[in-house]
Amino acid sequence: MSNPSLLILPGDGIGQEVMAEVKKIIDWFGDKQDLKFDVSEDLVGGAAYDAHGTPLHDDTMAKAQEVDAVLLGAVGGPKYDDLDFSVKPERGLLRLRKEMDLFANLRPAQCFDALADFSSLKKDIVSGLDIMIVRELTSGSYFGEPRGIFTENNERVGINTQRYTESEIERVARSAFELAKRRGNKVCSMEKANVMESGILWRDVVTEVHQADYADVELSHMYADNGAMQLVRAPKQFDVILTDNLFGDLLSDCAAMLTGSLGMLPSASLGAPMENGRPKAMYEPVHGSAPDIMGQNKANPSACILSFAMALRYSFDQGDAATMLEKAVESVLAKGIRTADLMQADGGKAVSTSEMGDAIINELNANV
Ligand code: IPM
Ligand code: MG
Repeated sequence: MSNPSLLILPGDGIGQEVMAEVKKIIDWFGDKQDLKFDVSEDLVGGAAYDAHGTPLHDDTMAKAQEVDAVLLGAVGGPKYDDLDFSVKPERGLLRLRKEMDLFANLRPAQCFDALADFSSLKKDIVSGLDIMIVRELTSGSYFGEPRGIFTENNERVGINTQRYTESEIERVARSAFELAKRRGNKVCSMEKANVMESGILWRDVVTEVHQADYADVELSHMYADNGAMQLVRAPKQFDVILTDNLFGDLLSDCAAMLTGSLGMLPSASLGAPMENGRPKAMYEPVHGSAPDIMGQNKANPSACILSFAMALRYSFDQGDAATMLEKAVESVLAKGIRTADLMQADGGKAVSTSEMGDAIINELNANV
């Protein structure tokens, strides 16, 4: 049987640097665990625009559809701020999500013990935090029509549409309930049913799916603004949070920061199963391209490395390998090894991006 295939799209900014560390980890699993992948690499975002005048070439899109999983670094940067909206780096990412139909975006926010002091919240509020945000990723106001900037009564009007069909809500709700069953068995669904019809439908459909197939999972509903407040007040009350595309964008950044650093958070974007039974999938860190620190070998590669751990778990059924990698990252942090984003004023010297990657590999070596 041939090896499973991976398409690496490092993208822009620190994407290249953090992905270089992921490649070392992929090689380690091939050499030491006989877990081999056929890896190819291509351009996305500003890098693709520079080469092809488009943030995602059709050939790259076609490759993404064929592989077993895509690993993406980050897109965007100030260099591309003035580009036309249709060719901005982010359009490349959104096209991948849409055309691969990656409707369930899993964003775990876990607070590693060694980092509890880095949170902007008090340690006892975040230590041991382990929540999973399930963000709908292919619909809602990111993609709804009509959209655009039009002229009406001699002035411009900007329009985006929040639109959800029942089936779109149902499939992502199922993903959230399935995940909850393997975790704390609780789902909190967040919308604005008090002001939005799409929120009323969201709440109805989630309730129907729950009653029909997941009545043994604890379900609650919360308005998304209250959800944001509760996330900073008492985040440990949550297990799985289910929410739409736009609220999920906001709430996941908020949840991420509870853990001390955006540089630690991975994500998985999953679609329907392919013929081989694996879900269509793309894995990417939650952080952006961080142009302010690019090229300085100081970005934290952990989020991107942990995204590969999610790929091992969700695409390749390698839960043990995923746990091994997550534990290696955790042990490195426990030893006080930190990149600059994780240094405190009183801390020692920050290690570089590549030193962090090497430390994680040393830890893996020590444990096999
Ligand atoms: C994210 C990002 C993206 C989004 C951007 C880069 C388009 O913020 O993945 O959370 O808004 O979805
Ligand atoms: Mg975001």
